[in-house]
Amino acid sequence: MKTAIIYDSIYGNTGKVAEEVARVRGEDAKLIHIASARKEDVAEAELIIIGTPTHGGRATAAMQTFIKSLPTDIWLNKKVAVFSTGMPASSVSLFFRMVIKILGYAAAPTLAVLLKMGGLHAGEPAEFMVKDKQGPLIEGELLRAGKWAESLK
Ligand SMILES: Cc1cc2nc3c(=O)[nH]c(=O)nc-3n(C[C@H](O)[C@H](O)[C@H](O)COP(=O)(O)O)c2cc1C
Repeated sequence: MKTAIIYDSIYGNTGKVAEEVARVRGEDAKLIHIASARKEDVAEAELIIIGTPTHGGRATAAMQTFIKSLPTDIWLNKKVAVFSTGMPASSVSLFFRMVIKILGYAAAPTLAVLLKMGGLHAGEPAEFMVKDKQGPLIEGELLRAGKWAESLK
């Protein structure tokens, strides 16, 4: 299945997850950083996987801007899946713990936006955890990401 994996990453952790997702999806998968993502990348793919760090409970500003820049009907009958990275509430400052408890992680609200525009549910939203704001990914998360990528339909 022709797959576009469009991701953002400030410190590189979401990029590592995106690379693992691309590796597991195989040669039909194209890995695209948000800075070079184009409307055609979405239009030409059958499955679009969005990967984003969680910033204030949502996708990064660049990812939200990209999604908003597309015609809404581009998602009609496209399979969509979203993963985000974020920090476990148990390991962060009180401020971030409140943010995470109240706002959650970016994957679910981002997927909800794509489904509302007519995207087809290809898998549950997934969150992969980093130890701190700059990472690294918690041990085992890349393995979990690979399994998630395999499970997408
Ligand atoms: C401006 C900013 C806001 C953030 N907000 C959240 C948040 O709401 N919840 C959370 O779990 N992590 C938050 N983080 C931590 C990011 O999730 C973390 O930096 C990211 O997962 C690392 O991925 P990257 O290396 O691909 O940038 C925030 C980080 C930044 C820089």
